[in-house]
Amino acid sequence: MAQQDAMASAASRLAGLISIRDLDIAGIKRIMQLSDSFSEVLGRDIPKLPTLRGKTLAIVFAEDSTRTRTSFEIAAKRLSMDVVTLNASQSSLKKGETLRDTLKNLHAIGADAFAVRHSSAGVPAQATRWLPVPVINAGDGCHEHPTQALLDCYTIRQHFAPAIGAGQSREPVSSLRYARNGTAGTEPDSSGSTASIGSGVAQTDLECFKKLRVAIVGDIEHSRVARSLVAALDILGARTVLVAPKTLLPRSQAGWPSEMSTSLDEVLPSVDVCYILRLQRERGTGMYVPTLREYYSYYGIDERRYAMLPDHAVIMHPGPLNRGVEIDNTVADSPKSLILRQATSGVAVRMAVLYLLLGHNTGTWKADDRSVGALPRDNTGRDTTTESTSQIGLPEAADA
Ligand code: CP
Repeated sequence: MAQQDAMASAASRLAGLISIRDLDIAGIKRIMQLSDSFSEVLGRDIPKLPTLRGKTLAIVFAEDSTRTRTSFEIAAKRLSMDVVTLNASQSSLKKGETLRDTLKNLHAIGADAFAVRHSSAGVPAQATRWLPVPVINAGDGCHEHPTQALLDCYTIRQHFAPAIGAGQSREPVSSLRYARNGTAGTEPDSSGSTASIGSGVAQTDLECFKKLRVAIVGDIEHSRVARSLVAALDILGARTVLVAPKTLLPRSQAGWPSEMSTSLDEVLPSVDVCYILRLQRERGTGMYVPTLREYYSYYGIDERRYAMLPDHAVIMHPGPLNRGVEIDNTVADSPKSLILRQATSGVAVRMAVLYLLLGHNTGTWKADDRSVGALPRDNTGRDTTTESTSQIGLPEAADA
């Protein structure tokens, strides 16, 4: 009987996070709420919790990375996990070992969860069939990059939700203006953020997305970031418009809940977020445009196009940037740029994903968000996180 219970429990555990479509709006809200709590922790002098002590994350990347790899590593360490990082190009994969054998050996050695990046779509999903522990898709080919989309949405919400919650909820986001225009709104500080951000308003507000129009500009066809972000914004109720030369737009509208345009100059004046994609030359994108110079002249965000954006609009980019190819130097570092904030968000969001997969695995991403407050327990059933949980303001288990 106990064995049956254990098997049922194992079967009901989440296999991982492979696609944004694994989530519904309650699941995304749950991740945002936890990310708020973890962001608060990350601002402390000692930004660390004992929550996942004793657990080990294996980061297995068969493609290059700066942001995703390091923020998974920092997120895990902030939750007191141990981390092993395997760079495929320096592993026994080079000697002919299969990825399946590599992952199963890492699990045998002690990994409790995996973050996997691979150039082939579907590899992380396949890994969930090989492994009895959670696998997070850290980017697979042109398919998906779900934690990138979550951190992007978290960054958008951090920027736009407080302004709405601070007594301006009747105003459409597109009508908000900074004070320098002599209209409603809040004064940007020197970093371009508004004074009201984080000023005690409810950070869980997802309503702001329903008022947003997000342009995603560039190599849509080869972009896992675009696929995950469009899906996430669709779940949250934002409108998306994909902008690219025809060769880099999806071949068919099927499956894309987005407008499509080849004219960036027509789109820019009416967007709230201008999300710029990298030209992925490692996936052959260069073959789809006549020259990089011509691409930049039609689709690069330069100072002239920056000036076409509404005053309240923001610039985003997942990184790495190709300055001078898809974005001008000054635009990347401009007051409207949220690019470094996106990188910051990645740590809290990935902490939330690890927490839900390893500390509080309810077997579904789509659960009612009342379960946010439940506490992880160790093998003895003893609550190991009372101190950390009260510190970050989550309700006690009995409240969940
Ligand atoms: N955004 C992103 O995935 O960046 P890295 O390739 O540096 O991880």
